[in-house]
Amino acid sequence: MFGNEGMGYGRFLYHTNHLHCENIPLTHLAQRFGTPLYVYSRAAILENAQAYRAHAPHAARVCFAVKANGNPTILRLLADAGLGADVTSGGELFLALKAGFAPETIIYSGVGKLHHEIEAALAAQIRALHVESAMELELIAAIASQRQQVASIGVRVNPDIHVETHPAISTGAAQHKFGVAPETAVTLLHQAAQHPWLKPVGLAAHLGSQIHEIAPFTAAANFLVALADELASGGIRLDYLDVGGGLGVAYEREKWEVKSEKIGEWVTAVAAPIQAAGYQLVIEPGRSIVAEAGVLLTQVVYTKPQGKKMFAIVDAAMNDLIRPTLYNAHHEILEVRRTSKVDRTCTYDIVGPICETGDFLARERPFPPLAPGDLLAVCHAGAYGFAMSSNYNGRLRPAEVLVDGENVHLIRQRQTYEHLLDGT
Ligand SMILES: Cc1ncc(COP(=O)(O)O)c(C=O)c1O
Repeated sequence: MFGNEGMGYGRFLYHTNHLHCENIPLTHLAQRFGTPLYVYSRAAILENAQAYRAHAPHAARVCFAVKANGNPTILRLLADAGLGADVTSGGELFLALKAGFAPETIIYSGVGKLHHEIEAALAAQIRALHVESAMELELIAAIASQRQQVASIGVRVNPDIHVETHPAISTGAAQHKFGVAPETAVTLLHQAAQHPWLKPVGLAAHLGSQIHEIAPFTAAANFLVALADELASGGIRLDYLDVGGGLGVAYEREKWEVKSEKIGEWVTAVAAPIQAAGYQLVIEPGRSIVAEAGVLLTQVVYTKPQGKKMFAIVDAAMNDLIRPTLYNAHHEILEVRRTSKVDRTCTYDIVGPICETGDFLARERPFPPLAPGDLLAVCHAGAYGFAMSSNYNGRLRPAEVLVDGENVHLIRQRQTYEHLLDGT
């Protein structure tokens, strides 16, 4: 089922030459809802979420990183499946609470939390604020004192572990803006322990996103255990250790894999040292839960030979899915209706209509000859897809649908031009 271009992948498989999401042909969705359109498989989201839950120790907390996909229906699905939430702004906190995540399962990371965001987190009584600087701790202490409410504090420590990923999403090395150095983490947790309105509860690290190797994560888990044990010997016993985001995703066809199996291996490996040392495990996966569960469905508008190139200009663009433009990220693109004869004799750049040369979804890809009206599915678009979309070039954000077997739910309406006047 995986790695075979003839069949599709996961919950996006061909039946009689038509690509389906679960039991629904994508052509039907395009006709009914238009394109560009984000299409998600409910089963795929739940399988990945359950893979984390099933392999984690009973007391562990799997906090979905809301930044990967903040659609309210998807968040509700994950809250109902027993996950917690990792939020990074007041807006994400609002979404998480609206979706029904229990406050005691919500953690809040981020280097620039504002006064009103800290107030909102304390008012909601979330599990912990993950502090990322001495000044932030001071502000939390002031707000907690004023509210006469104990604030639970985790400190995000920078383990200075180098990882193989795109520089823009590597976050755990000493030169990055995130977290604090280990010595500072110890100092801040001691300060918190001595403050009447602060309570140190956890230590967190996040190495970065889109990391495939398990070893750096186990190194981070061991690092956290060592630091927490050092704190315990100084009288501060923490409740939990948080190893941050989850596994990377295999975007390239040759590497497609059964995500849920790899997730099991990953969780078992990171949980081992933390459980052995008697701490609760917290993890914050985003990408690996939703990426493969979503595609961006788009339609060819024109084809255009230019110089030595052939462009297929489609109705989706960098405002809908910015990962190729931003990180040179690779997304496989499948024809939604394919001919039975595989005839990939043409090479296309798949580009959008935005006025930037960097507006592309794929470059130099083999396809059969494409024509206006052909539907394409941009694969593994469920994470950091819609979440990073914008109205750039006056374009409307696309609609989102969730497929559940034979049922389809519109989970976000396509914007209209009136939305471009919002707030004016
Ligand atoms: C603090 C934090 N936690 C969790 C995540 C989620 O990471 P991923 O989507 O790779 O699982 C991120 C993403 O960068 C993050 O910054």
